[in-house]
Amino acid sequence: MAFTFFMRDQPTLEYAADHMIPYASGRSRIKIWDAGSALGQETYTIAMIFAEKMNPFGFKNLRIDATDYDSANNFGEVVAAATYPYEELQRTPVHLFEKYFEPAQKPGEHRVVELLRSRVHFQYHDLLSFKPVGADYCLVVCKNVLLHFQYPERVEVYRMFHQALAPGGYLATENTQKLPREVAHLFQQVVPDAQLYKKIGE
Ligand SMILES: C[S@@+](CC[C@H](N)C(=O)[O-])C[C@H]1O[C@@H](n2cnc3c(N)ncnc32)[C@H](O)[C@@H]1O
Repeated sequence: MAFTFFMRDQPTLEYAADHMIPYASGRSRIKIWDAGSALGQETYTIAMIFAEKMNPFGFKNLRIDATDYDSANNFGEVVAAATYPYEELQRTPVHLFEKYFEPAQKPGEHRVVELLRSRVHFQYHDLLSFKPVGADYCLVVCKNVLLHFQYPERVEVYRMFHQALAPGGYLATENTQKLPREVAHLFQQVVPDAQLYKKIGE
């Protein structure tokens, strides 16, 4: 089972929102790809952070594509159900918990509200196919996944993300990753204390 949790590396996701939202303003479709999303805890954290920072009209134009290759644990069904036990939600600040979760049918479980659920679409996807799930993304988030790959695979995955991003779009990765030198010309780091990059070129 994938190790993940709500509000993981919140500062990097906040930076990503603070940079991406003004960049994407005026677009009629704003797309985020959460690559290696596991069971949706990261995806719904992203959704909460963007819902807090975007105006309600802009948020309705947001689509978050969550992908993972683990089909053994029914990730797709779990992400669509968006129901989590309270113990998993204890790191979520109270004001966000009260706003974005509602009691689920099973006692002790809580469901992400429809406002966020309706923005999220899950599909199975193997990053090592090196084929992006789509194009024109304003933000790709891929955290705590790249460490599992060999160096040459990582280089190809970065190339795939570059291809998937709209010109000037953003990429957020885990803080333990450094950009491989082979792809250093494709991205520019935007803050010194987080692995948040802006795409260079077309
Ligand atoms: C440690 S979890 C990270 C989850 C979340 N991104 C986070 O940071 O909390 C790693 C996830 O990467 C997924 N993963 C590993 N290799 C993958 C691949 N080749 N393609 C897609 N997902 C992969 C695993 O299934 C797992 O859900």
